[in-house]
Amino acid sequence: MNILFLGDVVAESGRDTVVNTLATIKQQYEIDFTIVNAENSAHGKGITQKIYQELINAGADVITLGNHAFAKKEIISSFDQCPFMIRPANMEPLDVGNSVIIREIDDLHIAVINLLGNVFMIPSTTGPIEVMEELLKEIDADIIIVDLHGEATSEKILFAEYFADKVTAIFGTHTHVQTADERIIRGCSFITDVGMCGPYDSVLGRDIGELISHVIKHQPTIYMPAKGPCIINGCVVKIDETSCRAVSIERIKLFPNA
Ligand code: FE2
Repeated sequence: MNILFLGDVVAESGRDTVVNTLATIKQQYEIDFTIVNAENSAHGKGITQKIYQELINAGADVITLGNHAFAKKEIISSFDQCPFMIRPANMEPLDVGNSVIIREIDDLHIAVINLLGNVFMIPSTTGPIEVMEELLKEIDADIIIVDLHGEATSEKILFAEYFADKVTAIFGTHTHVQTADERIIRGCSFITDVGMCGPYDSVLGRDIGELISHVIKHQPTIYMPAKGPCIINGCVVKIDETSCRAVSIERIKLFPNA
């Protein structure tokens, strides 16, 4: 079984690129199950029900989120209309949506979990390791996949080393910069950060000129995503359907106009 994970989709250009290329990627890599982190898909922060539906219609099986999950307030009241979307388990407000989803593919139950890192992030309610320990007591699935949305490399690597025997794949998200440390840890695939699907000429998807004005010239700015062609960053993980353990992980990096 091949699982595709696409990193943080940024703004309209990022989601248009994902919508337009996802079918081709799935065909090329013979993908059975697709997870997309879309916490930045609405103008660089948050998501809406309409965008959720676009990504599902394009071929995503599960949408994960992160620290900007509720940046667009309308999603709080429409979260229940997005049945295949999960939000970090350890972030306020805790009573909106689910943090674990289980889907069935080829007679296998695949659980996907969304967690927030604790280091250099907005305050999480509880650390991801603590929350994960509790979630594992409740989850009954053949394959368990985690999107750990965090800033610190060390926190994500430690999490992977700690839980490698209990889960099948751990994808780090949030930094928008793909790391080159993909590996298999005792049958669990891991990468510190998958990277983003968003504007290539940018600062993590945000407009370069706006950030220069803000950081160097100290001018007030609105939050403006960059324009222009997008890069797609993702990973494909091959899972042995008998053992339900990961056997390989391959990074995907599709440059604009490639
Ligand atoms: Fe984030």
